[in-house]
Amino acid sequence: MKKQVMLLSLCIILPLVFALPAVAADYVGSEKCFECHTEQFNEWQASGHPWKLRKVEKAKYSGLPLPSGYTWDDISYVIGGANKKARFINKEGYIITTAKDGSEAKTQYNMQDGSWSFYHKGEKKAYKCGPCHMTGYDKEGNQDGLPGMIGTWAEDGIGCEECHGPGSDHVKTPSVTTIAIDRSAEACGKCHQRGGMGDQPPAKGGFIKHHEQINELKAGSHGSIACLDCHNPHQRAIQAKDTCMSCHDDKYQNLAENIHGATGLSCKDCHMPKATKSAVKVSDTEGDVRTHLFKINTDPKANMFVTVEKDGKKSTYAKGFVTLDFACLNCHKARDVEWAAKNAKKIH
Ligand code: HEC
Ligand code: HEC
Ligand code: HEC
Ligand code: HEC
Ligand code: HEC
Ligand code: HEC
Ligand code: HEC
Ligand code: HEC
Repeated sequence: MKKQVMLLSLCIILPLVFALPAVAADYVGSEKCFECHTEQFNEWQASGHPWKLRKVEKAKYSGLPLPSGYTWDDISYVIGGANKKARFINKEGYIITTAKDGSEAKTQYNMQDGSWSFYHKGEKKAYKCGPCHMTGYDKEGNQDGLPGMIGTWAEDGIGCEECHGPGSDHVKTPSVTTIAIDRSAEACGKCHQRGGMGDQPPAKGGFIKHHEQINELKAGSHGSIACLDCHNPHQRAIQAKDTCMSCHDDKYQNLAENIHGATGLSCKDCHMPKATKSAVKVSDTEGDVRTHLFKINTDPKANMFVTVEKDGKKSTYAKGFVTLDFACLNCHKARDVEWAAKNAKKIH
């Protein structure tokens, strides 16, 4: 009998012992990585990634104005405020959608021109944005016990471990084998997408909606190349690598010999116009986010967008190219698309 019990316990304990090394690593926080990876840490700090959600203690020194009637004592967190726009979270964890006294007010601050926009005017708007804005997001529970914060997470904003996985094992045993790197476009596209990672970028009001870089890539001509071909993932977008010519034929470089080259234009000025909008538009053909469609359609009659009706619901998408109004007329304001079409063909 005794022997049987012993055997039985061995059967239970042995697999447990052997299973131990597979126990998942824990999140240690980006500050911990700073100790050995100062360069990546400093670059990442300046990128938008860690700014996605910041506690009021940090955010109140950023110089952002607050929606009507509020003081910093009424705020728990700030969303964004690095690049295009900022939204604010109250002490219960809800995104602010009215003035402090409950009256109608614009509550999204736009950094580019200092204007304000309505954001879900008057709605009770929970903060459900975690999967794309946090590190180690879990949809259960409420962060800090605040009812408006849906889910819990290991670190505010997109920390090192959101892309590299939990780092406790790596910190204990630093080596290339104890930490993950995923270089696929999909690793970035899980957040830089809208409505999935398909090839139809959703559009509205004459612009592509923002955070759809993977949808734009797939709709355009660069579906087979990865974000890392052009981006260092720790750096600001404006530091994107200058890699166009590493893949494209020299004939496209002859810009230097023509008027555009002489004025210092680069490839992105025509091939990545601001056909996408996050916070504000500058004009009907200039939003505030550069598109990743790249291909320019030189037909003056071409339309960038298509509206389809399915089950009585209308949806608008961008096609796989930008049109000449976006590509040329934001600089050549006094011209029209016929003029642009005549000149576009021989532009290179
Ligand atoms: C105690 C120092 C130390 C700390 C803390 C540390 N690392 Fe490392 N890390 C290393 C060393 C050493 C290597 C191996 C470098 C090599 O061999 O090229 C490394 C390599 C890496 C690599 C490259 C892997 C590859 O395949 O090239 C990544 C990514 C990385 N660390 C991320 C992190 C992250 C994220 C954190 C925080 C969670 C972190 N590290 C914390 C020392 C550290
Ligand atoms: C948005 C996702 C993302 C975030 C956030 C991120 N990394 Fe990385 N990291 C990557 C990818 C992808 C690579 C591979 C880059 C390549 O091969 O071009 C990488 C590469 C590295 C490397 C290898 C050397 C290098 O620079 O290529 C180190 C070390 C590293 N990361 C550390 C960190 C640390 C520390 C942080 C936080 C301060 C961090 N990373 C934040 C995605 C990320
Ligand atoms: C967990 C979600 C998430 C992942 C994964 C992610 N991003 Fe981001 N990324 C964001 C968000 C949210 C922002 C907006 C940050 C801001 O502007 O405050 C952003 C901003 C950026 C920016 C703009 C920074 C600037 O200077 O304007 C670049 C470039 C970028 N991401 C590239 C990448 C690349 C490359 C990868 C993959 C290696 C990646 N991201 C993975 C969510 C993510
Ligand atoms: C599918 C992933 C995803 C979801 C869900 C999402 N975002 Fe974002 N958001 C992004 C990415 C990626 C960016 C930056 C790239 C871009 O704008 O093109 C961004 C940018 C932002 C910015 C601008 C930041 C800055 O510094 O300019 C704000 C503010 C923002 N998001 C708020 C929200 C709020 C509030 C929610 C929830 C109601 C939300 N987002 C849900 C992915 C997402
Ligand atoms: C890693 C390689 C690579 C890099 C880097 C790259 N491209 Fe491309 N590009 C391609 C491939 C592959 C295609 C699709 C095949 C083709 O039509 O040439 C393409 C297609 C294009 C097209 C459309 C051609 C058409 O008629 O469909 C344009 C425009 C373009 N790229 C511009 C650029 C610009 C501008 C940059 C720099 C910001 C750039 N590319 C960087 C590989 C690259
Ligand atoms: C002044 C605006 C402008 C600039 C700057 C510019 N391009 Fe273009 N590019 C165009 C236009 C317009 C077309 C379409 C021409 C056509 O269809 O005949 C085009 C076409 C292309 C194509 C595709 C040609 C094809 O066969 O469909 C590639 C690839 C390309 N450009 C790459 C580049 C690269 C790389 C740079 C930077 C070195 C660059 N372009 C800079 C306007 C520009
Ligand atoms: C062919 C090169 C190329 C590829 C591939 C590419 N990017 Fe970019 N990206 C750029 C360039 C160039 C800029 C513009 C930088 C600037 O404004 O100076 C940019 C800008 C951005 C911005 C900021 C846009 C804005 O105006 O606010 C984000 C976010 C971004 N890229 C994310 C991504 C993600 C995510 C992927 C992969 C799904 C990706 N990019 C693939 C070249 C590329
Ligand atoms: C980022 C700004 C910018 C963009 C985008 C741009 N251009 Fe230009 N273009 C200039 C500048 C600057 C000059 C030189 C000054 C001038 O003559 O206006 C110029 C000059 C020209 C000229 C010769 C002068 C003239 O007016 O006849 C032509 C033709 C031209 N561009 C066509 C185009 C076409 C077609 C496109 C779109 C495919 C385009 N440009 C996109 C800035 C731009």
